[in-house]
Amino acid sequence: MKEKIDLLRRETVELIDRCSSPEDIESLRIRYLGRKGELSIILRSLGALPSDQRRVVGQAVNSLKEDFQRRLDSRRSSLEAKQEQQVLFSQTADVTLPGVPHMRGRRHPISLTMSCIADIFTGLGFVVAEGPEVETDYYNFAALNFPADHPAKDMQATLYITDDLLLRTHTSPVQIRVMERQRPPVRCIMPGRVYRCDSDVSHSPMFHQVEGLLVDEGVSFGDLKGILGFFVQRMFGSATRLRFRPSFFPFTEPSAEIDISCVICSGKGCRVCKETGWVEILGAGMVHPAVLRGVGYDAERYTGYAFGMGVERIAMLRYRIDDIRLFFENDVRFLEQFS
Ligand code: DAH
Repeated sequence: MKEKIDLLRRETVELIDRCSSPEDIESLRIRYLGRKGELSIILRSLGALPSDQRRVVGQAVNSLKEDFQRRLDSRRSSLEAKQEQQVLFSQTADVTLPGVPHMRGRRHPISLTMSCIADIFTGLGFVVAEGPEVETDYYNFAALNFPADHPAKDMQATLYITDDLLLRTHTSPVQIRVMERQRPPVRCIMPGRVYRCDSDVSHSPMFHQVEGLLVDEGVSFGDLKGILGFFVQRMFGSATRLRFRPSFFPFTEPSAEIDISCVICSGKGCRVCKETGWVEILGAGMVHPAVLRGVGYDAERYTGYAFGMGVERIAMLRYRIDDIRLFFENDVRFLEQFS
């Protein structure tokens, strides 16, 4: 028995040395100390020994068992430490590797242009108002004095949701919403998205407008000319000239379309102005008395002017861009050129 125990001792010492992972240690432990393990079996068989041997053998086996357990534990912790260190080394960041570049975001040229327009008008005491993009027929057309059979209401131009609901085709309905909740004086601009069934190099089914409205006592067409002249020169430079052409909108009377001298060729004639020297940027006029009456204003006492401009058109002129679709493709090579 004594020899058997000595043999087991040598055997286990060697086997522990050969372990290369905590898993190896665990299988060794099971092999010797598990329920069917070699040491457990010897310990269980002690009862069959003659009583004089039982104590000596028992002590020897127990001391082997404790010794074995100690060696296992210490080998296990050194293997675990080694393993941990390997993991740490394999996870070390290589600070010489190139990083992941983060591109810097910029404001979109359309929102830059909208801010610029808003800054000019808020500097003149106008406030900013907004309205819904999904509108009713009433605000988009009827309240703006459009007759029921007006061609603008045609499915060709207007994107309808139901018979009565539509995507607003212009920001003019916000004029009505503002006047309904406020008495004169009114002095506001109304920026926002608008929608039309239209798409080519100069038309997009969604685009932006900024509407303007001023209603008070004694407002004249001269005031409108003055404010638009100031705006245009601020926006495009003091050499820019204005041209008012008579036009028609149901919600203004008289109405005008306003051209500016071409900012690309300074009026000499080019592709952008179609060789005319002028480009149209605004619709405007004196608010129609029927519109004022519709919101409960006294049209004898109050007069007002209104205007509306296409933001994409203004941005195209400002940044010399010849295709409106570039604004909506969101190609970073295009977008990163604006700041
Ligand atoms: N709403 C018009 C359009 O989308 C633009 C416009 C013209 C707005 C004259 C106005 C205005 O406020 O007075 O074509």
